[in-house]
Parts: sequence; C-alpha cells; structure tokens
Amino acid sequence: MVMSTASKGLEGVVAAETELSFIDGVKGVLEYVGIEIDDLARNSTFEEVVFLLWNKRLPSQGELNSFTSELRGQYEISDTVLSRIKDLPTSAQPMHALRTMISYLALEDSDPNSTKPEEVQRKALGILAKAPAIVAAFDRHRRGEKFIPPDTSLSFAANFLKMLNGKAPTETMERAFDVCMILHADHGLNASTFTARVIISTLSDIYSTMTGAIGALRGPLHGGANEGVMVMLNEISSVAAAEDYVMGKMTRKEKIMGFGHRVYKAYDPRATYLKTLAEQLAKDTGNSDLYEKSHAVEQVMEREVAAKGIYPNVDFYSATTYHCIGLELDLFTPMFALSRISGWAGHGLEQLEANRLIRPTAEYTGPHGVAYVPIGQR
Ligand code: ACO
Repeated sequence: MVMSTASKGLEGVVAAETELSFIDGVKGVLEYVGIEIDDLARNSTFEEVVFLLWNKRLPSQGELNSFTSELRGQYEISDTVLSRIKDLPTSAQPMHALRTMISYLALEDSDPNSTKPEEVQRKALGILAKAPAIVAAFDRHRRGEKFIPPDTSLSFAANFLKMLNGKAPTETMERAFDVCMILHADHGLNASTFTARVIISTLSDIYSTMTGAIGALRGPLHGGANEGVMVMLNEISSVAAAEDYVMGKMTRKEKIMGFGHRVYKAYDPRATYLKTLAEQLAKDTGNSDLYEKSHAVEQVMEREVAAKGIYPNVDFYSATTYHCIGLELDLFTPMFALSRISGWAGHGLEQLEANRLIRPTAEYTGPHGVAYVPIGQR
C-alpha cells in the first residue's frame, strides 16, 4: 500500500505497534505497559521500570533483586574503555563522547551482531549499566579529576551521582534523580526511538541501534531541548525580565525551548510531575529564583499560546531539576540518554519479536527525462 502524499514530519503516521508506552496527547496521559506514569514516579524505581519495559510486566521481588544485581554486576567499564575516554579531547561535548563510547563498547564484544532476543537483552543491560560510568568518567576527565569507580552497592541513580561528584548523594537527591530516570525512560515512537527501531529492523546490532538513537536524541528539537531551556533561563536576568524575553522571542518567531510537543496538545504529564519536583528541589537548594523564572516563562506562554495546545514538555522543568541536582548544563541531554537507553532497548526487543524491515517510500518531486550533459559542456 502506497500513500500518495507525504506527511511532513510523518505526523499522524502509525509506523509501528507497541505495548510499551501509551500516550493520550489530548488528555495528557502517559502509561508504561498500562501503568500511569504518575503511579510509577511515586512508587517505583528506575530498575523496576527497566524490567517492566523489557518484560512487559512488573517483576516479583526475587526477579527485581536478581535483575538489579545483574545490572550492578555490569557497572564497571574496562581499563581500555577508560583509557579511550581519557584520549577524548576535553573540549568535546558529553553527548558526542557518550555516542562515541557506546559505539566503542561493540569492539569489546566478541559477538556484537547477535539479534537473538536474550543476547540483545544481555548486551542492552551491559550498555545501560556502563553508560553512567562513561558519562561520569568523561566529565571528570575534562575537569582534570580522577575517575571514581562504580559502587555496586548503590542504585543506578546513586551510583551515577557518586561517580560524578565523588560522594554518594543524599536520599532526596537520589530519589529526585531516580524519578527523572523513570519519567524519561520511554515515550512512544519519538524521533530517537523510531531511529532505534529503523536501525534494528535491518538486523543491525544493538550497539549501532543505541549509537544512532543517541545521535537523534541530541538535536535541540528533541532531547537537546533541556539544555536549550537552561541556556534560556540563564539569559533571563530576573523574574521580572521573563515577560519581555519571551515576547521578544515570539515576535521574532523563535521557539521557546521546552514548550510544545508533536503528540501532547495538553500538559505533558511528565512536566506536571517535574514541576512539583523542581519547585521543591529549588527551595531545598537555594535555587528558588530559577524556579520562579521558569514559572514566569510558563505564565507568559500560557497566556500567549496555550490555546494553540502549546504547554511545557518534559524538558522544561527537567532543566531546573537537573541544575538543582548539581549537573553541568551540557550533561542534561546525556541524562536523558542514560534513561532512554532502557526505552530504546525495549523497542529494539519488541521490533525483533515480529521484525519487518522499516523502509517507507518517498514522494518523488523532482524532474523526469533530464538529458545527461557531459561535464565539459556544463
Ligand atoms: N515556542 C513557540 N511556538 C511554538 C513552539 C515553541 N516551543 N512549539 C511549537 N510552536 C508553534 C510553531 O511556531 C507553530 O506555529 P504556527 O502554526 O503559527 O506556525 C506551531 O506551534 C506548530 O509547531 P511545529 O514546530 O510545526 O510543531 P511540531 O509538532 O513539528 O513540533 C516540537 C514539535 C519540535 C517539539 C516543537 O514544539 C518545538 O520545536 N519545541 C521546542 C523544542 C522542544 O522543546 N523540544 C522537545 C520536545 S519533547 C522531547 O523531544 C523530549
């Protein structure tokens, strides 16, 4: 079946079936395997959510324990990986470093190309477990600080923050970061997940799948928007300046990062949760001014464009949240990637369950019958 006209940006095109996440963009609902995101954010852990996305059901306590210990058993990166990280230019951006090093992990796998589901899941577990060490090692390398080895007694969230900062986080910080990981884990057929499914549908390997997905996530229209939000908040000198700043951008027809969504025409349920989290963390860490600036931007946007269905998306309040957790601005998008690796892997596994090469058609709009002109006559 060939549709005769292209849908710009594939809007409205159903390109896959999935049982992983459900989005109702009008009502502002997000569920992972049928469970509301709010329920998971309040009651679950990132490790449990990963199990859910890879097995399409919640684990028993025993299953969660063994899944968690398998994950922790893979936290460590090899000396070779660490030394390759130390070879990277300190001026490199963390997303480029992460993409490069995830790709590199394939070189340490004696059988990187297997597409057997159990093998893909095992490799995905390794990628997910090692990604925090890669980001933390690169960040410490560029700061001229020594690598802090992973701590297998800690959760995914706490281990990452310890490797980054040199000390275990407080319980509040660990929980805040864990919730961020839960909220970013999966989101239907977003651009990077679609990229992941396209790559694995060629029966390429899981390392290529992740590498390509990281590349898609980096863009400012997708996961890169959380960094754009922070740049914007830094440019706004005070709460009172937010109005003129936003109106200036709107007049110049520039987009406000962290607002709008292809699917949500209502408040993104992840943003609802992150807003509350950001407000609390900002208060606890002496960053209330940052939260107030965000809120002021939101109020102007609500007045100007809410009627068009443009609301804060997941990236808007995650910027304030990550800042309060103490992360550098250019680590915001890598944080998104650390979490979304779980969703990309879940979709990769689902694609392989009933794989058919993803290969859409383009509507040709160029000329026909053009005569070849020899190079000397052009
Ligand atoms: N600020 C101002 N106006 C906006 C914004 C925004 N952030 N987003 C959309 N609009 C306006 C557009 O200007 C356009 O208006 P028009 O019809 O008058 O020309 C209309 O809303 C539709 O916008 P599109 O860009 O065509 O919508 P699309 O569905 O293609 O884009 C996107 C969705 C890319 C997320 C867009 O809203 C955007 O660029 N937002 C800013 C970047 C961002 O926050 N990205 C993160 C998305 S969530 C994620 O990927 C994790």
